[in-house]
Amino acid sequence: MPLYLANRLSFWTRALTSCSYPRDVPLLWAAIRRRRPFEIPDGVWSRIVPIMQHRGLIARQDAGLLYWAAKEWPLAGPVLELGSFQGASTAVFALAGRHVHAVDAWSLDVADISAYRGEGMSADDVFDRFCHNVEALGISHLVTVHRGLTHDVGRVWATAGAILFVDAGHTYGDVKGDLEIWTPHLHPDGLLIMHDVLNGWRPAPGVTRAASELLRNGWRVVASAGSIVAFVRMRRDMGAHD
Ligand SMILES: C[S@@+](CC[C@H](N)C(=O)[O-])C[C@H]1O[C@@H](n2cnc3c(N)ncnc32)[C@H](O)[C@@H]1O
Repeated sequence: MPLYLANRLSFWTRALTSCSYPRDVPLLWAAIRRRRPFEIPDGVWSRIVPIMQHRGLIARQDAGLLYWAAKEWPLAGPVLELGSFQGASTAVFALAGRHVHAVDAWSLDVADISAYRGEGMSADDVFDRFCHNVEALGISHLVTVHRGLTHDVGRVWATAGAILFVDAGHTYGDVKGDLEIWTPHLHPDGLLIMHDVLNGWRPAPGVTRAASELLRNGWRVVASAGSIVAFVRMRRDMGAHD
């Protein structure tokens, strides 16, 4: 079997076995129906790869969906990004021309420290690298940093977002709290993007569970690629396909 096919099969086997049944069936079905390839231009991706070499946490197909969202979502306004780490996703959004509010604790004093595992860098080092990357990419004017716990920052938040990207703590409690606290800050026609919902390589069952619950709470799937599933509120699709 070709390596590419073996990799895809392995990804899906892991993804499907990390879901709970029958709970996650509607989510899986909706995501599979709306999966399609999203491209990120070579010229943009090649600027982000140096960040990835220091353990950036997004794959190219995930970056493609983020780039598409930032470029094409027909609503002006910033990205509210929960979980920035060294700035890979921040860079994708900003290089597509969106202002990004980057919210991250950059601290090991969080419930989920999985991003730092094997990194060999302190949280302060990672924060310094985030700042360095933003500066080096020439996107400082498009990035506002909010260093703190997402739940704390969200409780006093005042700026509406056109896109909400959820990729901070990956426990069920973290994600459920982020959705409860932050979705009211997303414009009614905004796009909610959740990372690691279908991650065959690094399953995050808490993220998948919280994403499944969205379908029972007035949200519907509009796009999916890689580990990402993107949602809109049920009342309007903004041109999404059924
Ligand atoms: C998976 S990484 C984000 C990856 C990033 N989006 C990228 O493209 O590389 C998760 C980030 O969330 C942060 N984090 C985890 N729990 C958090 C919390 N409760 N509040 C704020 N940040 C948190 C971690 O510090 C880490 O930088």
